[in-house]
Amino acid sequence: MAARKFFVGGNWKMNGNKAAIDVIVERLNGSINTSVETVCAPPQCYLDYTKSKLDSSLFVAAQNCYKVEKGAFTGDISPAMLKDLGVSHVILGHSERRHVFGESDQLVADKCAHALANDLTVIACIGEKLEEREAGQTEAVNVRQLTAIKNAISDWSKVVIAYEPVWAIGTGKTATPDQAQEVHEELRKWLASEVSKEVSDSIRIIYGGSVTGANCKDLAKKPDIDGFLVGGASLKPEFVDIINARD
Ligand code: PGA
Repeated sequence: MAARKFFVGGNWKMNGNKAAIDVIVERLNGSINTSVETVCAPPQCYLDYTKSKLDSSLFVAAQNCYKVEKGAFTGDISPAMLKDLGVSHVILGHSERRHVFGESDQLVADKCAHALANDLTVIACIGEKLEEREAGQTEAVNVRQLTAIKNAISDWSKVVIAYEPVWAIGTGKTATPDQAQEVHEELRKWLASEVSKEVSDSIRIIYGGSVTGANCKDLAKKPDIDGFLVGGASLKPEFVDIINARD
């Protein structure tokens, strides 16, 4: 099996200000294991500020971007603008974008395609809601969301898949390592049969949803969990422990 570089993203969501960013950056700079791909995703107005402060061994991600280069799309930003700022990664299809802002599978897929065409690394988020899990639709929902992306893109080399069960995000209810591993394994099998064995072996599938310093090590032991997308805990000192979860 291809070695997959451990990947940890901090999704700061709509939190922070310059003073808070200074504190986070100070904790991260110089103390990060560079064998881990570590990414911080500040609110878009702080992308440039964060980029200017973080060590160059850490990457900066946007939390969203639109599906075209420029134009009359008030309030939005494009991959070209992110590239201009030196931002290398973007989170797309986060459950808050899907369920608070109503983004469809197709819109998320179009955004992924456009971001990849602009050479950004895409952290593509998928995940089922609680009622979908309880109705036995976990795999169907994740496959539906991933199929839209598959139909829009051809090169998976700059895609990281973030499996984030909606019921686990910001709730303190983490998927157990076995629950997360089961879905990651299903997704990898699906990729092997629908895309290619090479993509299935090499793509990072990371877990998100109430990851903390306390639960990250057990999750990181699972063979198909290649890292984390972290919300709340990425603002706290324990983010460093999460980055170092697999040592
Ligand atoms: P959480 O958020 O870690 O606060 O649950 C994860 C995410 O939304 O990416």
